[in-house]
Amino acid sequence: MDGNGRWGVRRGIGRSAGHCAGVDAIRRIVEAAIRQGIGTLTLYGFSSDNWGRPAAEVGAIMALIRHYVGSEADRLAAAGVRLTVIGRRDRLPAGLAAAIGAAEAATAAGTRLHLRIAVDYSAREAILAAARRAGSDCSREDFSALVIGERDVPVVDLVIRAGGEKRLSDFLLWESAYAELYFTDRLWPDFEAEDLAEALTEFRSRHRRFGLVPAHAAAA
Ligand code: FPP
Repeated sequence: MDGNGRWGVRRGIGRSAGHCAGVDAIRRIVEAAIRQGIGTLTLYGFSSDNWGRPAAEVGAIMALIRHYVGSEADRLAAAGVRLTVIGRRDRLPAGLAAAIGAAEAATAAGTRLHLRIAVDYSAREAILAAARRAGSDCSREDFSALVIGERDVPVVDLVIRAGGEKRLSDFLLWESAYAELYFTDRLWPDFEAEDLAEALTEFRSRHRRFGLVPAHAAAA
C-alpha cells in the first residue's frame, strides 16, 4: 500500500491524511477482489520496521487500523470475507489486539475472500520464529506451515507493489518463492479496481515454470 504518505504530502494535507485515503482504497480493493475472484488477499498494513517512523504517524496508522477492524467487521462478515491479521500483537497499542481478535471471530465463517492484514509484521521474523520451533527433521511442508501460521493459506501467486517501489521489503518472503511480481507507479490511495484487473491480466499472461522447462511446467 505504498504511496499514502506522498499522496497526502502532494495535496498539502500531510502523510497521515494519505493513510486515511489509503483506507478508502482498501475498501474499494477488497470489493474488487471479491468481484475479480481472488481467494486470498494480503495487505501490508504496518511493517515491524515502521515503528521507527515519527510517533504521530505511527499513532495515526494504529488508530486507522483500530477503526478499520472495529467498524468494518460486520460489513466484511456480511460480504463473506474472513479477516485475519498476521504479525506480532504484543507491541500493539492497548485494545488493538482484542479488537483484532473480535474482528477475526466475527468474520471467521467467511468463504468468499480471505483478507489478511499484516500488522507489526516482518517476514524475516516469521521465518526465524518458525526455525526456532522446527525440529532438525522438519519437512519443507511442515516448516511452511510454521512460517505461515494459519490455516488454508496458499502460496503467493502475485505480489503487487504500488507507489513505484521495486522491492519486497520483508513481505511474505518464504511464501513468495515463485510469486510473480507486479510494480506500478500508482500511489495506493489512487489504486482502483481497474488497476487490480490490469495486474491480474498481466499475471495471467506470465509463463510460470516453477523452475521447470515449459513442457514439464505445463504438465505439472
Ligand atoms: C506505506 O506507504 C503505507 C503504510 C506504511 C501504512 C499503511 C496504512 C494504512 C493504509 C492505514 C490503515 C491500515 C489498515 C490495514 C486498515 P508509505 O507511508 O510508505 O507512503 P510513501 O511511500 O508515499 O512514503
